[in-house]
Amino acid sequence: MASAVEKPKSANPISEASTKEDIESKVSQAKSTDSHDADDAGHSKSIFEGNGFTIIKKIGTGSYSKVKLAYSKNHKGMVAIKIVSKFQVPEEFLRKFLYNEIKVVRFLKHDNIIKYYQSIETSHRLYIIMQNAEHGSILDLIHKQKRIPESRACSIFNQIIAAVEYCHSQGVVHRDIKCENILFDSNYTVKLIDFGFAKSMNPVLKTAGEEKLEALIAQKSPSKAKKENSNLSETYCGSYAYASPEILRGVPYDPFASDIWAMGCVLYTMVHGRLPFDDRHLGKLIKQVQAPISFPTAVVTSTEFKICCRKIFVPAKDRVSIVDLKKDPWVMTKYLEYERVVIQRQSQSVK
Ligand SMILES: Nc1ncnc2c1ncn2[C@@H]1O[C@H](COP(=O)(O)OP(=O)(O)O)[C@@H](O)[C@H]1O
Ligand SMILES: [Mg+2]
Repeated sequence: MASAVEKPKSANPISEASTKEDIESKVSQAKSTDSHDADDAGHSKSIFEGNGFTIIKKIGTGSYSKVKLAYSKNHKGMVAIKIVSKFQVPEEFLRKFLYNEIKVVRFLKHDNIIKYYQSIETSHRLYIIMQNAEHGSILDLIHKQKRIPESRACSIFNQIIAAVEYCHSQGVVHRDIKCENILFDSNYTVKLIDFGFAKSMNPVLKTAGEEKLEALIAQKSPSKAKKENSNLSETYCGSYAYASPEILRGVPYDPFASDIWAMGCVLYTMVHGRLPFDDRHLGKLIKQVQAPISFPTAVVTSTEFKICCRKIFVPAKDRVSIVDLKKDPWVMTKYLEYERVVIQRQSQSVK
């Protein structure tokens, strides 16, 4: 019934330079090899050099981007650089999403969200420089381990909840939560990435241009303005396998509740080692997401885990809120541990 988890498109490094000597040797290796990469020759190469970056290697590929690991002189360490070529993306993406990601990630500051450093724009490309999450994604982990034990999955899920709860509290919905977009840093702390399709309901994040456009729409078409201000989404940009029933029905949907559905898909995939719904046939998928969630017997899971999933995989009106998800007994089994780690990290950063 459910599809297997596909091979990752990305090639995250399992381990990378951690000591000063390691970094120096990687940088000198990279200096002698990076000119072979035709994509970086010329234009990009001088941008990197001019800004103090030495490209080490490619670490990921997304739908519209390439991600490279680089040594940054300014940061005195490794960074990840997401490169979007303005000429290789559809026009609608350019208009709607290109600057969106930067706007959102530079605003969000949370321990479980990737740290944004800077962006560079040229006539051809946009470069987003961010913290490098060196231990790969949840998908990489599932490929290595087949599935993640419930107890570890619960620790990871608590951190995903913390990241998404923070985004929602800031009026930001992610809209592309999936195993490939949840990474681990050097301490195996969860880092949510890829805010390219995020939507912000936060007035702080609106540019003057967007405000003017909204005022114009309100003047010309009050009914359209009302719809746009209702916080409902109409466009869907993420993966079908993680899409909620309301998204698949194609009606305006509450994107906050749909983020929770996608989180449920990540949780189920971690524990079962496979996606809960098969997205190969849209018709079948639509039926599956409306039926009660099933749990293959090949993997033995706790009753509490199943109860937690059943609160998520239901129609939007009955779906658990993020606040109540935090209080779910299965989630709570690791909440104290999560809180301890946060307090420990906070006290370390004060020192
Ligand atoms: N900060 C990062 N650290 C390490 N790897 C990253 C980082 N950002 C992205 N990647 C890798 O690159 C892949 C594509 O990046 P992503 O931002 O998701 O691009 P897209 O928007 O095109 O999907 C990710 O799935 C991940 O494997
Ligand atoms: Mg992605």
